[in-house]
Amino acid sequence: MGRPLIIAIDGPAASGKTTLARRLAQELNYLVFDTGILYRAVTWLALTRGEDPQDETRMTQLARALDINLHPDPQTGETRIYLQGRDVSQELHSPQVDAWVSVVAAHPGVRMALKDVQRRLALRGGIIVVGRDIGTVIVPEADVKIYLDASLEERARRRYEEARSRGHQVSFQQVLEDMRRRDMLDSSRDTAPLRPAKDAFILKTNGLTPEEVFERVMAVIRERTL
Ligand code: CDP
Repeated sequence: MGRPLIIAIDGPAASGKTTLARRLAQELNYLVFDTGILYRAVTWLALTRGEDPQDETRMTQLARALDINLHPDPQTGETRIYLQGRDVSQELHSPQVDAWVSVVAAHPGVRMALKDVQRRLALRGGIIVVGRDIGTVIVPEADVKIYLDASLEERARRRYEEARSRGHQVSFQQVLEDMRRRDMLDSSRDTAPLRPAKDAFILKTNGLTPEEVFERVMAVIRERTL
């Protein structure tokens, strides 16, 4: 595997994309680009300023002017996200942002405003790009396309545990309902809906350990890039 690859990972919320991306990045010494952060950042800005996430014109303006900075945390090695000079890494995953992000991400103007920056970063290669439309719209020329999935209940259980460990006070039912609604919005929108690319390797992760998912995907990467 000499040439630096572009690896696209798509799939619904909590299907295991981030865990897989981090493990692959460690193995291949690649960067991870989590594109959901961009939609979350626009949503966070809108909510903080008391703007209506349903207002496409305004959301598109926020997306066009997005001034986002990423810095690795020297202690943990994790990427910290700064907006307007403030570390918002935790807040981008708050239940409030979760509740609105798919509304913001469904606006065609927002998607168009964020497309170029995603493509430019992805085309550098040596990168794992994580999202919903990476293999279908952002970089259809990606070398390897993975589509992860898992049942709604399994994904809600994972996200519930994650939210509690981040200190968010939510109930399992709330997380499940939010995810059901987000799945529906993401899959039914007109622009770049969530769906596997024709040439994607589809993997259902129910009952698989993160290491098993990683092993299967590494086998696909080897096979497709021989
Ligand atoms: O971590 P989780 O899968 O819950 O969310 P995320 O990847 O941070 O994405 C949050 C939301 O942003 C998704 O539910 C989509 O509505 C939207 N999104 C998108 O439309 N396209 C992408 N490439 C990435 C995220």
